[in-house]
Amino acid sequence: MEETSKSHELDDYFTSAMALTESGVPRVPTRYILPPSQRPMLSPSIATDTISLPVIDLSLLHDPLLRPCVIHEIELACKGFGFFQIINHGVPSSVVNDAVDAATRFFDLSADEKMHLVSNNFHDPVRYGTSINHSTDKVYYWRDFIKHYSHPLSKWIDLWPSNPPCYKEKMGKYAEATHVLHKQAIEAISESLGLEKTYLQEEIEEGSQVMAVNCYPVCPEPEMALGMPPHSDFGSLTILLQSGQGLEMMDSNKKWVSVPYIEGALIVLLGDQIEVMSNGIYKSMIHRVTVNKDFKRLSFASLHSLPMQKKISPAPQLVNEDRPAAYGEFSFNDFLDFVSSNDITQQRFIDTLKK
Ligand code: OGA
Ligand code: NI
Repeated sequence: MEETSKSHELDDYFTSAMALTESGVPRVPTRYILPPSQRPMLSPSIATDTISLPVIDLSLLHDPLLRPCVIHEIELACKGFGFFQIINHGVPSSVVNDAVDAATRFFDLSADEKMHLVSNNFHDPVRYGTSINHSTDKVYYWRDFIKHYSHPLSKWIDLWPSNPPCYKEKMGKYAEATHVLHKQAIEAISESLGLEKTYLQEEIEEGSQVMAVNCYPVCPEPEMALGMPPHSDFGSLTILLQSGQGLEMMDSNKKWVSVPYIEGALIVLLGDQIEVMSNGIYKSMIHRVTVNKDFKRLSFASLHSLPMQKKISPAPQLVNEDRPAAYGEFSFNDFLDFVSSNDITQQRFIDTLKK
């Protein structure tokens, strides 16, 4: 009996991508090697200088004369790409740099220090892990992460890492700033769909925010592996900070396009809840993460969602005879149940809702 439970614990133990890089492995271990058709080099990314991806100056939203133009730019970006980069977004660079510093220090802690936060239960409010789910993934992804519920901050912050000591304060400031930004972005996106700016107001106030702090260490064979598999985010919007290039989007021709790194910019990605709410006028962005030999990349994905149990369905204003409701309703909780028992690299959650 004791034997069995011990070997079970050992099965659950994992080696982080960070530990592999630090040990100097010359090649990626077999469990990280993707089937040939999924390797990034066999589906090469389009050089971004050939197409122009949307960058929006968010400060112009506050100018009543310019707001309609910006809303129109947002509409084009959402229809054409499912994401846009934002500049002049109001999150001070000191807040960003402090949060990057706290995350860097967290991942630099010893394996033992981080291990007590390990969890592969998707419902846990704080989880440290590697890949997507180390106990069930068939192929591993070259990523370590710490994810924590972040809104309302006072409810969750005590559960966050207490090491490094600056973590709670620095990451907390960044989480609060992105929560404000999410509200502005949702208002603009609602308007761009011809809805009231306040269409989702109540849901946003009570909604959830999960901060996924990702670390993609230097990888010895980046052509064989990925940092994250192709997926869309389940929530309303994701506000993403990347410390260097690595994010790729799937375009309408199913080609991978690299999203350029713009210093100081943040990226707004449409999630499945917006696809459903917009009745498919906007699509959630399918994206993946590549890794590289030269630098460690950090990213913060602030995953915003409507309240846990709240069912979201197409906005009645966007449903008519010509455009009947194309999706069934779902909640964040339904999504968590789905990912707990399904392999998201095989099937997208949103496809299970399509009518
Ligand atoms: C995510 C995600 C992208 C990145 O965490 O859902 O897509 O660049 N992250 O890390
Ligand atoms: Ni994502």
